Amino acid sequence: MHEVTVTVVDREGQSHTLTGPTDMNMNLMELCRAYELPVLGECGGMAMCATCQVYLESNTILPEQSDAELDMLDQAFFVKTNSRLGCQIQLNDSLQGACFRLAPESL
Ligand code: FES
Repeated sequence: MHEVTVTVVDREGQSHTLTGPTDMNMNLMELCRAYELPVLGECGGMAMCATCQVYLESNTILPEQSDAELDMLDQAFFVKTNSRLGCQIQLNDSLQGACFRLAPESL
């Protein structure tokens, strides 16, 4: 099985090391939920709720944001220049070593 390991800092400032498969079409929101981090993923990964918002804290190059992601972040709270929707970040090898921080809850 192919796996990738990332770091996610929760809202209390605690770091978690998460490892997930790169060959199961899984995204970062789903990985956080699998580790029982407090990520709602309310819309199920449709880029329609922003409850999966994270801040990218490493120099990792992520794929360009889709229009749907940009539109959602336009309406979300606590958005910063490094905001991304976790559900739009597919787990793949390029994420190895990436670090994300959970954005504050917006609901
Ligand atoms: S889970 Fe709703 S926007 Fe990501």
